[in-house]
Amino acid sequence: NNIPKLIDIETHRTEQSGSLSVIQSNTHLNFPIRRVYYIHSIEDDKARGFHGHKKLQQCIVATSGHVTLSLEGYGKTYSFELDAPNKGVLVPAGYWREMSNFSNDAVLMVLASDDYEPKDYIHDKQEFYAFDANRTNVEKVGYLA
Ligand code: TYD
Repeated sequence: NNIPKLIDIETHRTEQSGSLSVIQSNTHLNFPIRRVYYIHSIEDDKARGFHGHKKLQQCIVATSGHVTLSLEGYGKTYSFELDAPNKGVLVPAGYWREMSNFSNDAVLMVLASDDYEPKDYIHDKQEFYAFDANRTNVEKVGYLA
């Protein structure tokens, strides 16, 4: 499935002693988790991302605070408000991402399908549009135009 999706993360609330949220590859993701990283200590009004990933799949969760996640791919744009630790966004391969409106306490946890690989990044927006158009054509007609 190529559509980004907001998921409701399974959360176990224990009366008076808080909550526990869990993500398992088999039950909640389309990929085995290979790498985990988190973004934190973000200064005011700083935005991040501004790149695409060719193959990497991710699940992004604001475990604390809030952030706006914007995605673009297959000619469509999406915007998600991550403002609770029981919300996650599944980001399929081949999306451009931007993160903005970080709260001071924001911690953004990313579960990723692959090791860190600089070659998987597309940093130039025009290059991303070319990649997106090409890929969309391949999937429509089954071959490279
Ligand atoms: P980057 O992916 O550009 O972060 P963001 O999408 O939040 O803007 O990564 C920021 C820096 O961290 C960059 O210098 C690459 C480095 N980095 C690693 O070394 N390993 C990793 O797994 C990741 C995600 C980033």
